Amino acid sequence: MNIPLDRDKPMALPRQIQAHLERLIHERLLTPGTKLPATRELARQLGVNRGTVALAYEELVATGWARAHVGQGTFVAERPASGAVPAPPVATPVALDWSGLFSRSAQILGADDERSRAVTPIPSSGAVVSFAGGMPDSGLFPTDAFRRVLNQVIREEGPSLLQYYPAGGYPPLRRYLSTYLLRFGIEARPEEILIVNGSQQGFDLIARTLIDPGDFVAIEQPTYPRAMQVFRSFGAQLLSVPWGETGPRAEVFERLLERHAPKLFYCQPSAHNPTGLAVAPETARRLLEVAARHQVPIIEDGFDGSLFYGDSPTLPLKAVDRGGVVVYIGTFSKILFPGLRLGWLVGPPQILERLQAAKQLADLHTSAMIQAAVHRFCERKLLDRHATRVATEYARRRSLLLTALRRRMPAEVTWTEPQGGFSLLLTLPSGMDAGTLLQQAIERGVAFTPGAPFFVDGGGQRTLRLSFSSVAAGRIDEGIRRLAETIKAARARLRGRERIERAVVPVV
Ligand SMILES: Cc1ncc(COP(=O)(O)O)c(C=O)c1O
Repeated sequence: MNIPLDRDKPMALPRQIQAHLERLIHERLLTPGTKLPATRELARQLGVNRGTVALAYEELVATGWARAHVGQGTFVAERPASGAVPAPPVATPVALDWSGLFSRSAQILGADDERSRAVTPIPSSGAVVSFAGGMPDSGLFPTDAFRRVLNQVIREEGPSLLQYYPAGGYPPLRRYLSTYLLRFGIEARPEEILIVNGSQQGFDLIARTLIDPGDFVAIEQPTYPRAMQVFRSFGAQLLSVPWGETGPRAEVFERLLERHAPKLFYCQPSAHNPTGLAVAPETARRLLEVAARHQVPIIEDGFDGSLFYGDSPTLPLKAVDRGGVVVYIGTFSKILFPGLRLGWLVGPPQILERLQAAKQLADLHTSAMIQAAVHRFCERKLLDRHATRVATEYARRRSLLLTALRRRMPAEVTWTEPQGGFSLLLTLPSGMDAGTLLQQAIERGVAFTPGAPFFVDGGGQRTLRLSFSSVAAGRIDEGIRRLAETIKAARARLRGRERIERAVVPVV
């Protein structure tokens, strides 16, 4: 432990040590129950005699900051005695003012606070049914099976997996993905697949590789807030392409390409977050044709084709991309565990080489141990088994959610019918604001994600996202009952206010 001591100060050395430790405890840098270093050891580190440290510890115990256990040592008290106020700091150096040092990118991110909060989920609890998850249900995780494959790969390949590794990824996983993607119509050789730390790193690498400050980026509206944030943080100006009935509107897309020549177009065609909608084949064909004609890449944020709720999954754009315009982003986050931080990019060699170089600069490579474990998990067909199980469960929850909405919502409320993914977008009656409604909803025991942060250039205040994936089936109807009650109460208050406003005779 480093405790700066000033021998020229009038304050005695034991008091300086005591004051420093009190501050560390007060600021919870030393947490309750932590054992303080042995007096002999700390005295050696600080170059003082042992009695000096012992005196400091005795004072800490006397003032309630620490407890001494005979024969065991001195420990930070579980709860400092009331009235235990830390001594004033020994030296108060002028703290560095960081605010003037932030890069342009960090400033943009800081200003985008609302969007950051939107994607921070509110967990379900005993009291609150939370539809704000947007993530797989950890109660369905195949944790034991994964632990077993992790043990196996460490036993068999430990030394090479724990060494630095090539940036492109674990070759058997790239080969597996090459075959796996064929199921969804994507043809990619292993060397056309780059392993990354989740889709999120994919966005970052693509932005690094393609965007200069001031460039235009076309992006579907609404869309995933963290994708928006990445492109903006690289200085891009976002141009929105609104979703219509069948996907992002191709005629708007074409107009934007003609007027602004954006660097890329980002969309989620197969299971759109927040609506759960999928692009119709004819719209997909048009988007691809327009992009190829204008030579603009499409960044396709894919959702695993095993999780869909119609008769068959929508084909990814990448599967029908004849012009080589699509860079596909895939992830194990939704179908397996987000905590793996494991995803992949598929693209033509020309861009993939650049993305790999950017990846190498960012973090050298993705954990080979995790890649090998996931490969083993997939090869043993454990992923297929798990995917079948969760797809059935998520489909059940989606269907319960839709039934509850039909049964309980007032007539002016509308919502999307998800064909894939984990959520839907609900639109409130006119005049209502989802951000304001959230606090009232939490008080009634239900949570959701306000929709506004999913909208690129404002709007969406009347919308909210409901995720069904991590709400237990047995709580969905009750959660929607609470939400419907909240909406009805807010609507009644709104109507009351409107009546009063109408009744007030204008002064002329
Ligand atoms: C549409 C979309 N893209 C990307 C991500 C991030 O995924 P990953 O965990 O693979 O980084 C999410 C996470 O919720 C998402 O909803």
